[in-house]
Amino acid sequence: MPKKTVEDIDVAGKRVLLRVDLNVPMDKKGVISDDTRIRACLPTIRYLIDNRARIILCSHLGRPDGRVIEELRLAPVASRLSELLGKPVEALRECIGLAVEATVAKLQDGDVALLENLRFYPEEEANALNFAKALSRLADVYVNDAFGASHRAHASVVGVAKYIPAVSGFLMRKELEALSGTLENPQRPFVAMIGGAKVGGKLAVLENIIHKVDALLIGGGMAATFIKSMGYGIGASMVEDDKLDYVRQLTEKAKSLGVKLLLPQDSVVAEKLEAGSTIRTVPITEIPDGWIMADIGPRTTERFSQELKKCKTVVWNGPVGVFEIPQFAEGTHRLAKVLAHLKATTVIGGGSTTEAVVEMGLANRMSHVSTGGGASLAFLEGKLLPGVAVLQDK
Ligand code: 3PG
Ligand code: MG
Repeated sequence: MPKKTVEDIDVAGKRVLLRVDLNVPMDKKGVISDDTRIRACLPTIRYLIDNRARIILCSHLGRPDGRVIEELRLAPVASRLSELLGKPVEALRECIGLAVEATVAKLQDGDVALLENLRFYPEEEANALNFAKALSRLADVYVNDAFGASHRAHASVVGVAKYIPAVSGFLMRKELEALSGTLENPQRPFVAMIGGAKVGGKLAVLENIIHKVDALLIGGGMAATFIKSMGYGIGASMVEDDKLDYVRQLTEKAKSLGVKLLLPQDSVVAEKLEAGSTIRTVPITEIPDGWIMADIGPRTTERFSQELKKCKTVVWNGPVGVFEIPQFAEGTHRLAKVLAHLKATTVIGGGSTTEAVVEMGLANRMSHVSTGGGASLAFLEGKLLPGVAVLQDK
């Protein structure tokens, strides 16, 4: 069921508590290395400004665990946001209380203020009702545009919706439309390419997605467990022995569902997972003892590319190699380029896959690049996100 958005409610002259995910990479001096998430919130903020709302933004930054950590204050984010909006954004030093209420009371139509890092308060992650209530007292309505945080049942994501009407922002709408549209109603052939270090973290995704796709391409460290399950040696690659049975069952399931399951045929293996290590390219049936699978090999890249070129819809979650180290980034880079040139719906499922695509400057060549890491994973697992569940239906 689609959710109401800011367009479905009257915001003129109203105080709007807008939850956003401004959890951006920032160093100790407050220098932001990637402002994608800040930019992603601009359409909703601009809409609210244009429609004369009084905007109270709130977000978490990092994981301060309920304590004030000076380097995790949101002031640098407010400055960046202010530059992008071309108007002042007042950064508050707290989230709740009389001083905050007084500042909020002075906001004029179209003004923007940003509360302090929500996770300075232990009540945020505990979803404590008193904290949610105190936040809700600041506003007349609540708007959730923080797709990236909506898998967290926290006070600012779930709790506040108990007290004031709750609707979605435009980023939230875009993410939900792209992800659910793709999963529920894909143009076929539909391929999922799943990578990442551990199969353990992707079990629920594989379980859900295998019922939806025509082909499943497996890369990344997690491929080692599949390869071992077939009886081959995997050298010193990390393997999850407790997942071997699961992986065998999944392979069987793919067969019975008629889903094509493609595993790596060759691998770039390294003596160590670090820059400058000696590397070799070998068939996966001949991984030498003591070596670690670090990337898919060229034959695999070619085979995956062929499959991708046939499809009309792709979901990609998880790099196919240790792409943070340039020597092991070839497979991920080449496949990202293939996707960028496809005439197909291409959905990048967040986290490090988004990082890789943004870093390569290919984000605008994809149909959708999710701003959520854990949130998009939960979505691919078929879960209803708690922060979405509490929003009003259209
Ligand atoms: C993210 O970066 O994935 C979101 O901002 C959520 O952050 P969290 O994983 O610390 O809850
Ligand atoms: Mg995270």
